[in-house]
Amino acid sequence: MKIIVCENYRELSKTAAEMVAECISSKKICLGLATGSTPEGMYDCLVGLYEAGKCDFSGVTTFNLDEYYPISPDDPQSYRYYMDKRLFERVNIDKSATHIPNGLAPDPELECTEYEKMIAACGGIDLQVLGVGANGHIGFNEPGDTLLPQTHLTGLTPSTIKANARFFDSEDQVPKHAITMGIKTILSARRIVVLVSGSAKHEAIKKLLEGKITTRWPVTFLNLHNDVTLICDKEVYYGTT
Ligand code: GLP
Repeated sequence: MKIIVCENYRELSKTAAEMVAECISSKKICLGLATGSTPEGMYDCLVGLYEAGKCDFSGVTTFNLDEYYPISPDDPQSYRYYMDKRLFERVNIDKSATHIPNGLAPDPELECTEYEKMIAACGGIDLQVLGVGANGHIGFNEPGDTLLPQTHLTGLTPSTIKANARFFDSEDQVPKHAITMGIKTILSARRIVVLVSGSAKHEAIKKLLEGKITTRWPVTFLNLHNDVTLICDKEVYYGTT
């Protein structure tokens, strides 16, 4: 695993954006994208690169890792809304080439199967951007006795509901379920770049770097992939504040 320890969040965001932009410049590309607070700075930097004429999204197809369920795509807390506002509406991407699981799918199981088929039809994901939950989740693959390989509907753990309550008016409003890519979906990407910031995630990163694999810390499954770049700040790497 390649590890880049950045001075601060700003440098982390810039480093990640440059890596994504370099990948995009190789014409037709399929990107896997993440939400949450960590990649916000990267999306701002990517918009900056686009505005400076250094990044062209016209050949880019995207697949997001996950979406709450149920949630309307128009809901400001949905990941569809997040992606539209933070990236898609600010760059020259073809909106029909952007994919996020439908938080209102009448048949979530079918939605998951179709999502896998669409990723396959696009030739697989070239570069997957990932964040990590403080409990070690990736996408919404939560710690437990088992993990699922493919895109699926999952329940959120109380700790994730609590952690994500900051984006909602109250904890009660956080959806209890989500549709997420599975571990195999994520590991099938040709390259993976993981963004992690802040001392609250030190434990998760420690587990990842120990090199052992456990369903209790889903992030440790990244040790099975041979092209992972971890971009983190000093706080998370050294566990200091
Ligand atoms: C969320 C998302 C993940 C994200 C993680 C970390 O719940 N489902 O894809 O990577 O939790 O979020 P944040 O960057 O806000 O800490």
